[in-house]
Amino acid sequence: MARVASSAEQVPYSRIRELAEIAMGMEGVLRLYFGESNLPTPDYIKDAAERAMRGGYTFYTENAGLPSLRRAIADLYRRLHQVEIDPGGEIVVTASGVQALHVAIRTTLNPGDEALVLTPAWPNGASIIALSNAIVREVPHPLRDSRYAVDFDALEAAVSPRTRLLVYISPSNPLGWVATRGEQQQLLDFTRRHGLWLLADEVYDRLQYVSAKPGEPAPSILRLASREDALIVVQSFSKAYRMTGWRLGYLIARRDLAEKAGQLNEFIVSHAPSFTQKAGEAALAMGEDDLTSMVLQLRENRDLCLEALRGMPGVTVPEPDGAFYLFPRIEGAGDSFEFCRRLLEETRVGLAPGVAFGAGGEGSVRICYAAERAILEPAMERLRRFLQEGREFGMIA
Ligand SMILES: Cc1ncc(COP(=O)(O)O)c(C=O)c1O
Repeated sequence: MARVASSAEQVPYSRIRELAEIAMGMEGVLRLYFGESNLPTPDYIKDAAERAMRGGYTFYTENAGLPSLRRAIADLYRRLHQVEIDPGGEIVVTASGVQALHVAIRTTLNPGDEALVLTPAWPNGASIIALSNAIVREVPHPLRDSRYAVDFDALEAAVSPRTRLLVYISPSNPLGWVATRGEQQQLLDFTRRHGLWLLADEVYDRLQYVSAKPGEPAPSILRLASREDALIVVQSFSKAYRMTGWRLGYLIARRDLAEKAGQLNEFIVSHAPSFTQKAGEAALAMGEDDLTSMVLQLRENRDLCLEALRGMPGVTVPEPDGAFYLFPRIEGAGDSFEFCRRLLEETRVGLAPGVAFGAGGEGSVRICYAAERAILEPAMERLRRFLQEGREFGMIA
């Protein structure tokens, strides 16, 4: 009998999706499980897409994306990060951050190779590695003095002759951790020393709360690297411009990898949709004001949820510096999927189970706070009551 390939079979089902599918069959759920804002894409982006469609952007484009969009991305990096990227050879536009990740992993790993992944992490990277018949080695972020850190000793110990890639996310989904300059330099030195590719997922770079200036990006690792380094930065329009459904992203990489990734795009999606790419240009050209107010709002949301969580029994949560998630550890919660399922069924609050994010994630839940106060406030109150009653009645240890 013909069978589904074992490489496909071994990829675990997303436990966030599994929870979401239960929630989607229910009425009145406060949905904080997915990683997206519940506000729509700004109108100026929709208008640009409509103009592009009517203006003829309905045909195939270059595999690496429209040259005008690649130039706009290079300009953005010059302006925001003071780095020079060649739009002709070091940028590949993709149909989403997920697809950028996919093509990056396919161009760096052979079957049987090993990839180090800093966890807890949004699980798609690890699943794409497994789908590529390669092996994931998870290295957990330790919590040191109420801040997540990189465990360089554990990284050293995890390297083998088959290791070819290190993947990390900063600002992190789900931790909100933002790599310091020192950590970026050490990650770069580590991969240089071991001859590895370094894949930096920077899709949340515009959403950070450390800088006094809202919207200022978390510094890209591209500032520290040379264009000869074996570095790939994955980016997306989804988070900064609220374009999750549009499927638009890009990667910036060393010229040889970028060239191959552009070629491989042909066999994956050929290219990102033409009018979506034009909408992306509008986002880069006109998005700053909207982005600034969104970051201010997100910071307020983060603080509201942090304060609520810190008042709940048995909950510990470090202050996140970026992205739009909180990842509280809930003492006695045990199986985080079961915890989230019960919370959903009894209170109609939908959170993502920590177990979905790999080693170090069990015992925590992820809360996406990119939602209005009218959703966040009752969600926090219901969670508080659920925990309090659970502890009183011995349902939670
Ligand atoms: C860390 C991280 N990287 C990449 C992505 C991909 O975003 P998209 O495929 O919507 O561009 C996401 C989405 O949740 C993410 O959280």
